[in-house]
Amino acid sequence: MLYSEKVMDHFMNPRNVGEMEDADGIGEVGNAKCGDIMRMYLKIENNIIKDVKFKTFGCGSAIASSSMATELIKGKSVDEALELTNKAVTEALDGLPAHKLHCSVLAEEAIKAALDDFYKKYPNGK
Ligand code: FES
Repeated sequence: MLYSEKVMDHFMNPRNVGEMEDADGIGEVGNAKCGDIMRMYLKIENNIIKDVKFKTFGCGSAIASSSMATELIKGKSVDEALELTNKAVTEALDGLPAHKLHCSVLAEEAIKAALDDFYKKYPNGK
């Protein structure tokens, strides 16, 4: 089996899919090679990630990675979310095939972009 059960589960039943009207930070990233796009929305209170939503126009591994990434940062502090790596996402998914690792990188980048946007809006946190 090419994909782990966890990858299949998060691909078939992705968590936290959607958009957010009052997001405190929005990040959108894309991969030029495959053309996939990922967008992350963050709701932040007292520097804790209160809510997170994502929209991914991409492959199954990108959808599973973004779903898992949202689960990993929900309820965490902004600082902890900033430290999330694609390696941690991949490990939480019980691995991805080597040629699909870039999909998890997209998830890390989307969260960092959303946090970047948050800090631009709220330089002193919120
Ligand atoms: Fe590009 Fe998965 S193939 S994000």
